[in-house]
Amino acid sequence: MNPVELIRKKRNGETLTKEELESFVLGYVKGSIPDYQMSAFLMAVYFTGMKAEETVAFTDVMLRSGEIIDLSAIPGTKVGKHSTGGVGDKVSLILAPMVAACGVPVPMISGRGLGHTGGTLDKLESIPGFRASLSVEEYKQIIGELGLVLIGQTEEIAPADRKIYALRDCTATIESIPLIAGSIMSKKLAEGTDALVLDVKCGNGAFMREYDDSVALANALVAAGNGVGKKTIGFITDMNQPLGFAVGNWLEVVESVECLRGKDVPDLMEVTYVVGGAMLFLGNKADSIEEGIKLCQSAIWSGKAFERFLQIVERQGGDLSFIRKLERYPKAKYSVEVKSGARGYVVGFATTRLGLLAIDLGVGRKKVDEVIDPKAGMLLAKKVGDKVEKGETLGVIYTDRANVLDHAKRELETCIQVAATGVDRLPCIRAFVDANGIRPWISHEMH
Ligand code: URA
Repeated sequence: MNPVELIRKKRNGETLTKEELESFVLGYVKGSIPDYQMSAFLMAVYFTGMKAEETVAFTDVMLRSGEIIDLSAIPGTKVGKHSTGGVGDKVSLILAPMVAACGVPVPMISGRGLGHTGGTLDKLESIPGFRASLSVEEYKQIIGELGLVLIGQTEEIAPADRKIYALRDCTATIESIPLIAGSIMSKKLAEGTDALVLDVKCGNGAFMREYDDSVALANALVAAGNGVGKKTIGFITDMNQPLGFAVGNWLEVVESVECLRGKDVPDLMEVTYVVGGAMLFLGNKADSIEEGIKLCQSAIWSGKAFERFLQIVERQGGDLSFIRKLERYPKAKYSVEVKSGARGYVVGFATTRLGLLAIDLGVGRKKVDEVIDPKAGMLLAKKVGDKVEKGETLGVIYTDRANVLDHAKRELETCIQVAATGVDRLPCIRAFVDANGIRPWISHEMH
């Protein structure tokens, strides 16, 4: 393979073969392809895209660049879940124990916060003592014992993606659908799952703001998953406001625990039940997604999902006394209520700005080595469509950082748009996608 010819071919919009992709990507991992050639290749892909079969080949090459965990010794169809990321997205914390309690094994490898979005790994690590970095052996052992396991990325999984992602981050080549599809799916499929349910977020707090872009991404992810032989379906879900009310690592654990104990936070639980129902369907525990939703609801109402959450937290070293008595957790130095300056209705959120505000409060990192504050964040009091009185609380900010308070108060107030005339509530699930393409999702009565 001549790397210059291969880059030229891609630059001219031609389709690369699996062998060409393999030698280029693996050459990069080994160091024989330098950063400048990989950068040129990535930019060529950014501009000319990839054909569907090329994206599948690229995903497969990235997947096989590292270890693919073998969970074949664990009985049952193992089903994973991936969300493309948003603000307040704590679905995995409720979903994994709920689905496991229904008998479908859930291996889950999660990431840290990315850009303005939060990461499940940071949320889990806010539980004192919780160990998310486990060896592959422990990973297998725990899923065998409890039917779920919650860990962070390991060195062995998709090393090509780790190296290429870091380069994309500093060459303005993140926003490319085939590159995103290859990156996400290679990591997800290395977890040892047999099938996968995707939650592709769409809206002003998602990486895909426009509906058509989220559809293109969902189709590419589903095609890449099915193309490498894993049954993959997904949903396009709304991210025009934070999911639930809590934004911030420990605050989100608290909201998740409350939901596991039966509290209904409508948008959060709708996404959780629908994705969970689909996981039970793919895991052969339900004949339809609707039947799966009902089974998930009874796992919550019976307390079995919460019981499984307690078991996994304890098994991975978490101190259960904080989960049983949530108020034991240390409090942020400052908690400041932000009130509405006007009477009317909440008509919208500037969701990405809220995610960035959360980072200022200490929820996430601005530099890779920054230490995050698990107590920091915000508790919102309203959703789109809610009525609000003048002087009524819109949200509460929690932080140890005195220097960000003034800005944070102003920013929270301006990120929540209040108008005299109301708007409808936002639909949570916008569409369903499988190998046959995209279709509307008819919401079922859930609350
Ligand atoms: N998340 C990933 O893991 N990879 C991407 O390319 C984008 C989001």
